[in-house]
Amino acid sequence: MKTLYDAGKSDGKNLLLLHGTGGDETSLVDIARFMDGSCRILSFRGEIQEDGMNRFFKRNGLNQFDFESLEEESDKLLAAIEKESQDKGVAMEDWVLVGYSNGANIAAHLLLERETPLRQGVFFHPMSLEVHTQKFDLSDKRIWLSYGGDRDPIVSQESFDELVTAFQKRNADVTVEETSAGHQINMEELQSARNWLENL
Ligand code: MLT
Repeated sequence: MKTLYDAGKSDGKNLLLLHGTGGDETSLVDIARFMDGSCRILSFRGEIQEDGMNRFFKRNGLNQFDFESLEEESDKLLAAIEKESQDKGVAMEDWVLVGYSNGANIAAHLLLERETPLRQGVFFHPMSLEVHTQKFDLSDKRIWLSYGGDRDPIVSQESFDELVTAFQKRNADVTVEETSAGHQINMEELQSARNWLENL
């Protein structure tokens, strides 16, 4: 997979970036540096093409997810994270997954559906993909999630709540930030994510 890497400074957090639909490995870099100016960055480009836009798994229209592709791409992404972690000498459990929209959705799916040492996440505007095949305990996971309110044309309150509940039911430590700014990331939530990260 195509990646961008910056080792950052020795006291920085390890941020693993997953962009939204139409983004690429550079899309969340400024956001990562805003959250932690010293951070190490490992950022992936989604390999699925949809009308020239990069994504992390296929869909057949807005919110019509291709579940076969979701599972296949989740396995590929996890393998790529394992490989990059080894190459860069970073333990899997030391990454903080930082995803936006489609990238947040696959990141949350990895934590819910794969038994992996990955355990921390900042998820901007994710939604439930409605896949709940696993029951293993998530009490080692700490996640922060934001919701854009009823002006978000993509993520419904119901879908966001379903995702939050899926994590809470399995004992993850969950922090929710609700805004009213729609699907775009805004300053208020960035500040909240930054505070959460500082205290991690
Ligand atoms: C997006 O456009 O990124 C979606 O709303 C979320 C997804 O497709 O996973």
